Amino acid sequence: MKRFLVSIAIMAGITTAYAQKKLVLYFSETGTTKTVALELQKQLGADIEAIQPEEPYSGNFQETVQRAQREKQSGTTPAIKPLKVKIADYDIIFLGYPIWSGSYASPIASLIKQNDFAGKTIVPFCSFGSGGLNTSTADLKKALPKATIKEGYGVRTARVAAVEKELDRFLKENGYKKGTVTKLPEFSAQKPVTDAEKAIFNEACSSYQFPLGTPSTVGKRTTPDGTEYKFTVQSNGGFGGGGSSIIYVVVGKEAGAKPEFTQVVR
Ligand SMILES: Cc1cc2nc3c(=O)[nH]c(=O)nc-3n(C[C@H](O)[C@H](O)[C@H](O)COP(=O)(O)O)c2cc1C
Repeated sequence: MKRFLVSIAIMAGITTAYAQKKLVLYFSETGTTKTVALELQKQLGADIEAIQPEEPYSGNFQETVQRAQREKQSGTTPAIKPLKVKIADYDIIFLGYPIWSGSYASPIASLIKQNDFAGKTIVPFCSFGSGGLNTSTADLKKALPKATIKEGYGVRTARVAAVEKELDRFLKENGYKKGTVTKLPEFSAQKPVTDAEKAIFNEACSSYQFPLGTPSTVGKRTTPDGTEYKFTVQSNGGFGGGGSSIIYVVVGKEAGAKPEFTQVVR
């Protein structure tokens, strides 16, 4: 009986996510998303392909903003080169992109138009100046109603050094890679921020190129690496507009560790 149960468990294991055929498919203009894609490929042992616009983007922020605006106004998306891989050969596609104007970069819209993702599992991953994982994931769900869009991974351009460790946790937590990780506790309930917490928020956020707002309440949790804060912030305009947002901040446990914000959720 025991042997029977063990073999059932092994058979069940074969169908789990880590055993499925995986592809890392990404667009990157200036290399940050590419760094995440290469780390994913390494940790998963997956196939990888870059999405290539026929006319490459220049790598200049202002020029790309203007080109993206022109494309949006004219209702077009950039022509991209045909993929070398066949999407049909894969079960899980890790789909990567930079966040442009709050969502996935426009070459992803071209990819979606030209390829069939019905029945596929998509794991989004992205890099961004401040945030956009959740909005881009919601937009992918709308654009690909016949695919299963899973919870994704996102990293700020300024925190790309954290990718290797964060991906290891993300992939194990979600069963894409073998191994276990200790589950992180929930954040404590939101409470009005103290002066000390306000100082941590300011140290993490004040050097960012756009104003990120004023924190009103905060919840915390202790992790194996330090302390994480979940601030509720009243935005005061800036990149992404007004209203309220959630901003996550981490402070490493080593002495003198500088607070860093990990993402803005609008
Ligand atoms: C046209 C354009 C629009 C952008 N819009 C946003 C945005 O809305 N939010 C954000 O956090 N970052 C934004 N960024 C910053 C990029 O998401 C960030 O630099 C990203 O890491 C670039 O990835 P890549 O190096 O793979 O191209 C934008 C960058 C460009 C070029």
